[in-house]
Amino acid sequence: MTNLTIRRLDEALKHRLRLRAAQNGRSMEKEVRCLLAAGLSEDGPGPMLGPVAKPASPAGAAAAQAGALAGRRVLLIIGGGIAAYKGLDLIRRVRERGAEMRVILTYGAQQFVTPLAAGALAGERAYTDLFDQTTEFDVGHIRLARDTDLVAVAPATANLMAKMAAGLADDLASTVLLATDKPVLIAPAMNPQMWAHPATRRNLARLTADGVRVIGPNAGEMAERGEAGVGRMAEPGEIAGALERLLGAGMPHPLKGQRMIVTSGPTHEPIDPVRYIANRSSGKQGHAIAEAAARAGADVTLVSGPVAIADPPGVRVIKVESARAMLAAVEAALPADVGVFAAAVADWRVAEAGEQKIKKGTGSAPQLALVENPDILATVARHPTKRPRLVIGFAAETEHVIAHARAKLAAKGCDWILANDVSPRTGVMGGDANSVHLVSEGGVESWPRQPKAAVAQSLVERIAQALGPRQ
Ligand code: C5P
Repeated sequence: MTNLTIRRLDEALKHRLRLRAAQNGRSMEKEVRCLLAAGLSEDGPGPMLGPVAKPASPAGAAAAQAGALAGRRVLLIIGGGIAAYKGLDLIRRVRERGAEMRVILTYGAQQFVTPLAAGALAGERAYTDLFDQTTEFDVGHIRLARDTDLVAVAPATANLMAKMAAGLADDLASTVLLATDKPVLIAPAMNPQMWAHPATRRNLARLTADGVRVIGPNAGEMAERGEAGVGRMAEPGEIAGALERLLGAGMPHPLKGQRMIVTSGPTHEPIDPVRYIANRSSGKQGHAIAEAAARAGADVTLVSGPVAIADPPGVRVIKVESARAMLAAVEAALPADVGVFAAAVADWRVAEAGEQKIKKGTGSAPQLALVENPDILATVARHPTKRPRLVIGFAAETEHVIAHARAKLAAKGCDWILANDVSPRTGVMGGDANSVHLVSEGGVESWPRQPKAAVAQSLVERIAQALGPRQ
């Protein structure tokens, strides 16, 4: 009934309905249903027929979304589920926003939609085969994986998720997913039982730990009669919105052209080849800062100690173990405009780490002599020729937080210290929220407790303010 209604509308009206639906993050069918439910008829002068209302905030609104992804490239993988038809709508939505699109159809997807339809909507032939002579000659699976800003998988079936989680590469879609170094967004869609199955839960946990972003699934009716629950693919408008957010579309790039070094995570200081001294830093705050800075357009090098979280998208990541290796990587990454030193660097290392595993049972416990590690923050802040314009340190304290931070500002020679209370009751170490005080020569600013991503965003905004527009 709704399909019939929409098909009968003239083009101008359909366009307005499409914009309105996108504005509300709904499908066109759902938008019509909402309008009808609100008691509006097609032939009355209701909101559906009136002009599309100007959004209160232009961001996120359909009208403003036109062109929001201009200059961006999206590779869409359509998996083999009934929601594949919505994948076709997604192509249109993303192209409406100005992105260039390439589309891969799995074998399963081709049972629901044709490469011809996907190619016609994408404006370029759709890709289907791993061993396709023309493609391998021309774009090839590695180029498909790399010549894009983001890979979206919609619908992501249970099977495709399982293959991704296991790292299988037995067709074009899975090979590209394994070969890509770009952010990946999946929109799962499957029967609620399959979604709830422990195997799918495990695969989802693996994928999110690997840094894959997930949108949906939503609750609602399934294609199968009488089936309902969580498993419906997110609507194309919702997925397009998530793509915009991930690609930082429409966002200003206040740090464009600025080089930034961020340290993050703990360091591991070897005792012998199998043992080390470490601390509880998760790297969440430092990684979030690197990600927010990259979104703001900075050219970011993240020097990270051993962490269990994914690399942030759009960032050059150098992985190190010890404080000395971290210092060497930071020095190699200079010069930079900004340095943010969020790593929980071990203060001491074992003076002489054993070359072989230290054995017990010798009658006495080993006496470990410790020596102080180099101070990376202080070294960079006092660098004779390559000091960044803005040097920012962290102070993780369990008491007298601000007093210690002030002392640290002077002792280390940095411009700002972000001080936080890391006593166990705060849950900051390893947790997702943080409350920090920004301590500078000018005074102390206390920020409310907020997610680490929000702390990162606020810090990036403050950095952009402090640097001013790049000359
Ligand atoms: O450990 P401390 O409280 O001195 O750390 C304060 C700041 O100094 C943090 O920003 C930390 O990343 C940095 N730091 C460093 N190298 C060290 C010790 C600390 O860069 N060896």
